[in-house]
Amino acid sequence: MTDAIKHDVETAEFFTEQEIRTFSFDNRQSIMLHRFAEALASIGGPQAPGAKSKASLAATELKFSFSKDQCEILDAYSDGLVSVLIFEGLQKFTDVSPPNELPNLTSLENRYDILCLAARSQILLKLVDNSAFAYDMDNEGKLVRLVANFKGGGLITINAEPEIKELSSHSGLALGPHTEAPYWCAVNAKDGHSPSPSSLILSALWNPSLEPTRVIPLPPILEKIGVTNCLALTTGNFQFTRSDSFVSGKGEDGRNVSILDFDDKVGFAARFNSYRFSVNENVSNFVKQAYTALCQGVDEANPTNYTLTQESAMVINNTRALHCRDVIKDNRRVLVRIFGLAKFSSPIVISDDPLLLQG
Ligand SMILES: [Fe+2]
Repeated sequence: MTDAIKHDVETAEFFTEQEIRTFSFDNRQSIMLHRFAEALASIGGPQAPGAKSKASLAATELKFSFSKDQCEILDAYSDGLVSVLIFEGLQKFTDVSPPNELPNLTSLENRYDILCLAARSQILLKLVDNSAFAYDMDNEGKLVRLVANFKGGGLITINAEPEIKELSSHSGLALGPHTEAPYWCAVNAKDGHSPSPSSLILSALWNPSLEPTRVIPLPPILEKIGVTNCLALTTGNFQFTRSDSFVSGKGEDGRNVSILDFDDKVGFAARFNSYRFSVNENVSNFVKQAYTALCQGVDEANPTNYTLTQESAMVINNTRALHCRDVIKDNRRVLVRIFGLAKFSSPIVISDDPLLLQG
């Protein structure tokens, strides 16, 4: 290995260590969290009125049991300075094996074990000062989204496999590196649009073939492409196509957005989607080169793979890291996803409990 390559590898390892942190629950803390999650699920989970304050109280109670080191990890994420936080040492909610064919979305959504996982995720979000929320124009306005192959496109066809596959987390298609939509702004509301989710949290009800979730922290990529390219990415010269998860008739393509913003509270905030973004045609070569450099940096990045189970959860900082996945190989895989709004984010609130934002 040449010195230059060795240096690059060491730098990448250093970044990964800083950007991807693990929080381990001890047994007592884990049992406490489990009980809070069950209590929250029994009133209907994150979508129920009152869940928000119950999750907050649970998080406050839990924090009393954490060590100084544990609190330091939570604070780093809460302040927006970490790309990914993995929670380990969590308890299972069920030992029931998945059926060969997944039940329909509604019956899955109403399962008690799903509500427990979602409730636990809502509490975990609160530990890092994020509030669970939904957008009015996405996921039918619901806080909890099940990530599974309901609409085809996986390695193995499903019953009634549709001809046209939806490019969203409800299909089985591979999804290239992206942050979650909407893409109008990242931290502060702009022109009637709330910012992108600050975080997304994922956990798994079933992941029988142990298929990983992949994350790509952006800081090493931005470091690599350099200052001029980063500055060019802060210009409003990019466009994106509408997401397939949006409510029918709502949400739209966007033009003249930036990819990077400088932000006083977190340093930088990003929005990007490798299969929805492009650079405007009539822009300078500086901007075009910057976009190419970013895409190349993302392409060449070595994603961190993490296999979710019921006993773990992963919070991804959606303004600092991209995530992606391979084609779904086992159609029994079911993840539970919730968006989180950080303490420093300023959205347009439609209703407070459950928290619904204008997208
Ligand atoms: Fe995603």
